[in-house]
Amino acid sequence: MSETELRVSKIKDGTVIDHITGGHALDVVKILGITGKEKGTLTIAVNVPSKRLKAKDIVKIEGRELNPQELHKIALLAPHATINIIRGYNVVKKFEVKLPKVIENIVKCANPACISNSNEPVQARFYVECEEPLLLKCHYCGYIMEKKDVLQQF
Ligand code: CTP
Ligand code: ZN
Repeated sequence: MSETELRVSKIKDGTVIDHITGGHALDVVKILGITGKEKGTLTIAVNVPSKRLKAKDIVKIEGRELNPQELHKIALLAPHATINIIRGYNVVKKFEVKLPKVIENIVKCANPACISNSNEPVQARFYVECEEPLLLKCHYCGYIMEKKDVLQQF
């Protein structure tokens, strides 16, 4: 470590979300419902130089592991993010998030007239047309949702 570097503490137990597309760390924090009032340490690093990406963001969440739905939400915003599960200071699992081809019950259709927004018992369903930039097509009305439409819901 040189004089121009400052090392961020390792976490004991929790999740490190690494290789987030540069500039999207705050979106990831938002989509996970993190407010900053939680107990554990939360570390957010934005625009860190990276070998693989031009610039990457990192989010470290002490004391929390993520469920599959939360991992899909992250994949919507940061399709190349790496998830590191930390237990007892060790990385016990490392994997890349994966966006399914069909997204169900994670986001609502932004078209107010869509049948999935009526009282009918139909559940929101989208096809991933493009991962980056994100384009989701509604199964019912064909409406195309972008990243900003998704972020508005969280
Ligand atoms: N990390 C952490 N606390 C720990 C262990 C790891 O905060 N107790 C962080 C590291 O700082 C790093 C990420 O989790 O940002 C992954 O750790 P590791 O696999 O050790 O690092 P790399 O080999 O650099 O990861 P990769 O090859 O995925 O870039
Ligand atoms: Zn729709």
